[in-house]
Amino acid sequence: MSISSPSSPAIHVQVLVTFLLFSTIAASFTKGEEPPKPTPWPEQFHSLLVMNYSGEVQLIDLWYDWPNGRNFNIIQHQLGKLSYDLEWNNGTSFFYTLDSNRECSSAQLEVGILRPNWLDGATYVGQRQVDGFLCYVWEKAEFITYYEDVVTRRPVHWVFYTGRAAHVMTFEVGAALEDAKWQVPWYCFEKTTPVIRDDVGRTIMHRGLVDTGTSVFVV
Ligand SMILES: *[C@@H]1O[C@H](CO)[C@@H](O)[C@H](O)[C@H]1NC(C)=O
Ligand SMILES: *[C@@H]1O[C@H](CO)[C@@H](O)[C@H](O)[C@H]1NC(C)=O
Repeated sequence: MSISSPSSPAIHVQVLVTFLLFSTIAASFTKGEEPPKPTPWPEQFHSLLVMNYSGEVQLIDLWYDWPNGRNFNIIQHQLGKLSYDLEWNNGTSFFYTLDSNRECSSAQLEVGILRPNWLDGATYVGQRQVDGFLCYVWEKAEFITYYEDVVTRRPVHWVFYTGRAAHVMTFEVGAALEDAKWQVPWYCFEKTTPVIRDDVGRTIMHRGLVDTGTSVFVV
């Protein structure tokens, strides 16, 4: 009985390739060091973000509130509309204005807001300089690149696969918006028409991540 099998050379090649692959990955980190992991989001924080999508600039006032299961993006379009995007952990979102136009729409999604550990499992891609900060950089599920300051471990910047980019201007850990401000205006319940979206997948991916670009933000 022969011990050689016709698949042996193929197996050898595969073992070699696997070995080379692992050596390359291992070589990209210092010996014995684990790649850095993204810092989980604090359970509550307030952040001012400058958003840029192909030169269209917005200022976003972000209130992330995990214990109360809610997330709020107050969006100032440059020299334009002030709009509100309030997301609840039960999947309900309201998009509205507080001016005399009384715009409001809502959406019902299968998922809640982002969990504080939503970056778990992201792939570390190294260090880069961004906005003047040396950052650890990760990629998550091919939809976001996330930059965290090496020194303070605060988020500095993130970019969606669409090219939409956020620059973190302030990051106040533990800051919470008073309950009264989370009140959806009455006209949301009077004439709101649920939005049927063909981009729900995208919306889910971006939920709580303030990627409320015109294709997602429907009013
Ligand atoms: C916005 O992005 C564009 C490129 O898409 C760039 O030319 C411009 O300088 C950016 N503006 C700001 C305020 O970051
Ligand atoms: C989700 O919670 C909000 C706030 O409590 C509420 O207004 C909304 O009706 C809820 N949605 C569902 C589907 O229960």
